[in-house]
Amino acid sequence: MAKDSETSRNVILVGFMGAGKSTVGRLLARRLGLCFVETDDMITAREGRSIPEIFGAHGEPYFRALEAATLDALADKQGHVIATGGGFPCRPGVMERLKALGTVVWLGGDLDTLYQRATRLGGRPMLADRSREEIAALYEARRAHYSQAHVSVDVSYLGVDAAVTRVLRYLRERERIKPAASSAMGGGAP
Ligand code: S3P
Repeated sequence: MAKDSETSRNVILVGFMGAGKSTVGRLLARRLGLCFVETDDMITAREGRSIPEIFGAHGEPYFRALEAATLDALADKQGHVIATGGGFPCRPGVMERLKALGTVVWLGGDLDTLYQRATRLGGRPMLADRSREEIAALYEARRAHYSQAHVSVDVSYLGVDAAVTRVLRYLRERERIKPAASSAMGGGAP
């Protein structure tokens, strides 16, 4: 069962490949004193093979089914920074479920920068055999999901430290405005 985002205290990072969810997430977890976990790592641990191997052996639909099972497994997490794979939140209902688990942060940016980072690092089957136009269309389609996050940070021109600092600032601001926002909406104080 989904837990209340106030008590579960997770921070969930979403965004396109190359946004830096893993590096930002790891440092963010350290700064917040939380545990760090990646949905891709949960999947590779469960399958005993790498993401490219999973795509190669079974194709994308199988990988997406593993992501769906991983979403169920996230319900147990409390006090974690969770970095999700780029396609993880991009199915109906997933963003809602992630938002019930904690604060969802979209690490966004301009596609050129994200694409360059992602291709430099490699190991991304979703980028293989796709034209630049197809990747732009994929990004456009996914933005509709990412943009449902509680907060968004443009990381195009930010290094890892600056991105983490920005996320921390947004998280603190969000904590500060929450009581006022809930009373303005008629919600009672706890
Ligand atoms: C994917 C992104 C990857 C990984 C898999 C599929 C996607 O994660 O989950 O290759 O569909 O965008 P990163 O966003 O960490 O590269």
